Amino acid sequence: MGDLQAQITVLDTGGQYTHLIARRVRELGVYADVQPSDTPVSALLGRKGIIISGGPASVLETGSPDVDPDLFRSEIPILGICYGHQLMARHLGGEVQKGLRGEYGLAHLRVSCEDALWKGVPDSQIWMSHFDIVAAVPAGFRITGCSEVSGVAAMSHPERKLFGIQFHPEVVHTQAGRHVLENFVFSICGAVKDWNISQRVPMVEEQIRRTAGDQNVFFFVSGGVDSTVAYTLCLRSLGPERVFGIYVDTGLMRKGETEFVRGVFAELGARNFLAEHAAEEFLAALEGIYDPEEKRRAIGEQFVKVQERILAGEHFLDGRWILGQGTIYPDTIESGGTAKADLIKTHHNRVAGIQALIDSGQIVEPLTSFYKDEVREIGRELGVPDRFLSRHPFPGPGLAIRCLCSEREGTVAKTADGFLLPVRSVGVQGDARSYRNVLALAHKPALMDVETTSPALTNSRPDINRVVGLCGAKAALGSLRMFKAGITKHRLDILREADAIVREFCLKTGFEELVWQFPVVLLPVGTGDARESVVLRPINSVDGMTADAVLMPEELMDQVTRQILAIPQVAAVFYDLTHKPPGTIEWE
Ligand code: XMP
Repeated sequence: MGDLQAQITVLDTGGQYTHLIARRVRELGVYADVQPSDTPVSALLGRKGIIISGGPASVLETGSPDVDPDLFRSEIPILGICYGHQLMARHLGGEVQKGLRGEYGLAHLRVSCEDALWKGVPDSQIWMSHFDIVAAVPAGFRITGCSEVSGVAAMSHPERKLFGIQFHPEVVHTQAGRHVLENFVFSICGAVKDWNISQRVPMVEEQIRRTAGDQNVFFFVSGGVDSTVAYTLCLRSLGPERVFGIYVDTGLMRKGETEFVRGVFAELGARNFLAEHAAEEFLAALEGIYDPEEKRRAIGEQFVKVQERILAGEHFLDGRWILGQGTIYPDTIESGGTAKADLIKTHHNRVAGIQALIDSGQIVEPLTSFYKDEVREIGRELGVPDRFLSRHPFPGPGLAIRCLCSEREGTVAKTADGFLLPVRSVGVQGDARSYRNVLALAHKPALMDVETTSPALTNSRPDINRVVGLCGAKAALGSLRMFKAGITKHRLDILREADAIVREFCLKTGFEELVWQFPVVLLPVGTGDARESVVLRPINSVDGMTADAVLMPEELMDQVTRQILAIPQVAAVFYDLTHKPPGTIEWE
């Protein structure tokens, strides 16, 4: 946000919670940003405080993320979290050791001496995730907290305002986490409240007017929250005549999606909204394709073709238009996480004409300073309906990557652990993509399957990356077969029906709000009369990079299963018990 400088900067050492730390500080009403860990101190002057994030590397290894050593002499208050705590100890002459084993999960903090970080913080539950430990604090530091796990749980040098904590205050499992951050941000750093979303909105609108000048803005809207809120901001600042929204109906959408999106845009006051019907083209492009990556590539190329046609037909490249995009803050920061995600699954290509607009700065991206929750808050401010803002993420390639295909037929094989389904799904193990079979347990999923059985099986069997339980079936599991199947409208309609059933129940019972995302997947596995199976895949996640399989209430599972099995073509309903890693959220 050009006109506002962050008071608190989070230095990113590659941790999955880096953005969560910045979000938590913003929730306290203080503007925080994220910068690479090695940002020179000269670029951080004026900050009220610095937080060094946690990260998966080891400070004992050469080449691991580091900070500018001058940072510790800058007199800016610093809080090191986990890896940041170890980095601080190592830089200042303390001792970091390889732990005997990794420590992940809950522990109990015992406050061992008074400290500015602990003001009002009682002994309480904390959440840890680390391997290395701080074995000795640097000269001048004191140990301020301990826990039952090894290493220094907390240390500080109050005069120099340097603080290190081994636990994660940003996650909800750390009971006093918010309090600890509050103490650091306000009492120690002296930050003042300057971050208020409703006050930001008029400033963002003014920025849009400045960027657009006398040009108009066009958006390819996806029906997702980000592009819709960005579009609405432009609509408000430039007026409905100057903003164009194009929605491509790929035929790979959920049931009722296009009508829903059209309705929401009408409600928002859009006058120039074009829904381009392209279902037949996308289906034709997918004909004869069975491989997940091939599917993604074909869909990406088809998007490019359709967008090129629209750009030419509507004269969007004649110099009077600039491109609007819903890019949000985490997308603007190159992190280990986002770089890796692209290796696992191919995302969409860009149209040359759009790339040219981006390269020449003919682009307006009103949301680049905001996190997803903040985008929702802005949406609420602008009157975007809640039923829209609370929607789960949905992948660009749509139901195509939830409709599994097979080029050959196959049988379900009984093994000592369960039944091996011949379908293959995408997973992520270490940094690598895997494409492996699925093991089906012949019973209804229980909590133990999610917590113990499934991880043990994926750890011990190299032929699988996913484990499912069986919610219900019309035939014995061992008698099911895999059929040759591609993407067809018929199969997509079956998936749409199953997905709609799941969504209706989940909305009605409130389960929708309890999970981060709930893909429903179609497998070409069944009997001669009913050739398909459906997989339920509810997960919880912070940012989609890692995810936990979640168990739904048994009664809900039974109701959903009964209704889905009433679809004549569906032979079985499975339940995905796999965390990410080793599975990915989507099956392809
Ligand atoms: P995976 O399956 O990689 O998904 O664990 C992580 C998150 O990303 C979404 N996803 C996509 N989103 N285009 C998108 O816009 C894509 O090609 C794509 N593939 C996966 C997925 O739904 C989940 O939220």
